[in-house]
Amino acid sequence: MELHIVTLFPGMFPGPFGGSILKRAQEKGLIDISIHGLRQFGLGRHQVVDDYPFGGGPGMVMRPEPWFAAVEAVRQAVAQEGRDPSTLPVVLLTPQGRLLRHQVARELAAKPGLILLCGHYEGVDERVRLHLAEDEISIGDYVLTGGELPAMVLVEAVVRLLPGVLGAAEGAWEDSLSSGLLEGPQYTRPREFRGWDTPEILLSGDHALVAQWRRQQALRRTRERRPDLLEGVELSRQDKKLLETNL
Ligand code: ADE
Repeated sequence: MELHIVTLFPGMFPGPFGGSILKRAQEKGLIDISIHGLRQFGLGRHQVVDDYPFGGGPGMVMRPEPWFAAVEAVRQAVAQEGRDPSTLPVVLLTPQGRLLRHQVARELAAKPGLILLCGHYEGVDERVRLHLAEDEISIGDYVLTGGELPAMVLVEAVVRLLPGVLGAAEGAWEDSLSSGLLEGPQYTRPREFRGWDTPEILLSGDHALVAQWRRQQALRRTRERRPDLLEGVELSRQDKKLLETNL
């Protein structure tokens, strides 16, 4: 998957992209990340990227020209390398976008690549949304100063879903998370820590019972903390029973 990130702050990216899963995915050749500084596409000698809002008001608005120029440069480079740039959707990171959920990450992971635009300041000229971005994504109902951290979050959420990025064991873990439920409790050694015990069932060696218990814990935790998630999950008769009984 090829990932292009257009940002005013290219220096923010090497750290988060230089470790763990993202580093490994790049080393394995599973993803190719390019960071494009927006400033180089700014206007005039001062490489201006923003201006006062028409109609007045506080703050600045990002001008459309640098964004269009940046995306056009990316598309041209992609085409020159023999790939079809129209297969790479342009995604604007903004608190007004659709919420990044597991399903959205899956949808994006199915694309051959993405062009991510990190907005800044008070906002971005509406024509960028209307005529350049094909998708707008928010990472949550809070406002950050810019789209850089959201772009990093999106990249991490998407890349870990690509085949071959996670090892087999981590991949199995992914399957359980994608059930739409919150994960239940996990325990490792020591069996007893400061007087707090590990649930007996996990030590029973009865795999079927352990699986049932885990499912029950996941269901209960989800009902307790995120009942909204349960609405999107088809509960089997066994699930309904598990919710009510004690193992
Ligand atoms: N830019 C600023 N806040 C954001 C958010 N919550 N999600 C995506 N982009 C943003």
